[in-house]
Amino acid sequence: MAEALRVGIAGLGTVGASVARVLRDKAAELTRQCGRDVVVSAVSARDAKRDRGVDLGAAKWFDDPVKMAQTADIDVFVELIGGDEGAARASVKAALEAGRHVVTANKALLAKHGVALAEIAEKKGVLLNYEAAVAGGIPVIKTMREAMAGNSVTRVFGILNGTCNYILTRMEAEGISFDACLKDAQRLGYAEADPTFDIEGHDTAHKLSILTSLAFGTKIAANDIYMEGISNISQADIRAAGDLGYRIKLLGVAQRTDSGIEQRVHPTMVPTASVIAQVHGVTNAVAIETDILGELLLSGPGAGGNATASAVVGDIADIAKSRPGFQHGPVFGLPAKELRPYKKAQMRSHAGGYFIRLTVHDRIGVFAAIAKRMADNDISLESIVQHAAGPETDAQKTVILVTHETTEAAVRKAVDGITKDGHLTDKPQVIRIERAG
Ligand SMILES: NC(=O)c1ccc[n+]([C@@H]2O[C@H](COP(=O)([O-])OP(=O)(O)OC[C@H]3O[C@@H](n4cnc5c(N)ncnc54)[C@H](OP(=O)(O)O)[C@@H]3O)[C@@H](O)[C@H]2O)c1
Repeated sequence: MAEALRVGIAGLGTVGASVARVLRDKAAELTRQCGRDVVVSAVSARDAKRDRGVDLGAAKWFDDPVKMAQTADIDVFVELIGGDEGAARASVKAALEAGRHVVTANKALLAKHGVALAEIAEKKGVLLNYEAAVAGGIPVIKTMREAMAGNSVTRVFGILNGTCNYILTRMEAEGISFDACLKDAQRLGYAEADPTFDIEGHDTAHKLSILTSLAFGTKIAANDIYMEGISNISQADIRAAGDLGYRIKLLGVAQRTDSGIEQRVHPTMVPTASVIAQVHGVTNAVAIETDILGELLLSGPGAGGNATASAVVGDIADIAKSRPGFQHGPVFGLPAKELRPYKKAQMRSHAGGYFIRLTVHDRIGVFAAIAKRMADNDISLESIVQHAAGPETDAQKTVILVTHETTEAAVRKAVDGITKDGHLTDKPQVIRIERAG
């Protein structure tokens, strides 16, 4: 039997401790599947005394993950520290430069430095595997890197943040407010004490930037992503969506268009009958649309110690199965040097349907003025409905418009015009509608 694969784990938190546990509990199975033993021979975290709830055996302890990356007797460095700079970046770079394979779950690091790190990995002839960085336990990286040869991707989109999907699911099912839902999610451990990163879309954007690079062979461009979070989604939106046959999801969408590549993260209305609309709670889903395959949807657990560990262990097993001298495939599907510069499509040119909810003064002529602003901007309406905003607000009405395909620029101009006309009593709400099978 080949020599054991020696693994060093940096970071022994939620994911790191789970990975150590799975490698120990499933040792015999992994040996059978990989044709060699997989052993944890070094570990690093901040607090050497903390009980991690897992037997780390004879693994050597390192206070400094960079030192572990450079000097430990390991073949694979597993980075589960987190963060786009500091110890995570320094240790991954050190491990690759020392010619060691790296496995990471760190989307923030890859979104910012993925291409530079891929260049080092490819130069050194080692693997940089990151299945757990996007959609946790769902094998989407492997699918896009290995199973779609010959396909040209036209669009990739998904529910990539479990916290947001949990909140939107409960808002719809129980009729409760965003704030109440968020508090509950924090109490149950589904949302961080500071939830900004999740609910404002940053986490989704990091993951989307990696999928975009894999889908279109472009350099990662996380800073170019248009981003809107879910904090201004109200019960009025959820109810109106339901009445119109839609459900609201926070989607990350990357799409090839005539003017470049669109990367956007925002609340989105998807048809209630679509498959992605059935993805509830903390579950994630990724849809990949290609010229040959059509639309593929992968869904499953996007976070949590065990689900994430499953993806990390899968990456480690791939390294255990590879043999010395074997040429590894490029990190982002194409060699890092061949990734094209990212050409950004302006959000103003985005084409699609729109849901617009307006709260207006209840007076004669308002409805006609709104319809005129739409017509003046060449926006064709699928529907326009007016009803009372609520029993306590006799003086105002709600107008809900659904447009046929139009552009973001036209919608913004029309809504600006309506706002300037002085008919609105509240901020207008605009939610994009996404085509989904
Ligand atoms: N949690 C999930 O469900 C999930 C899902 C997908 C991807 N991820 C990604 O997985 C990574 C780890 O997440 P996590 O939830 O496991 O984080 P976590 O629970 O906060 O664990 C982080 C670990 O890193 C260690 N650490 C921090 N700074 C260090 C340093 N300077 N030197 C050495 N060790 C250091 C900590 O040590 P101490 O324990 O001693 O403080 C801790 O063990 C992140 O990149 C995250 O984005 C997580």
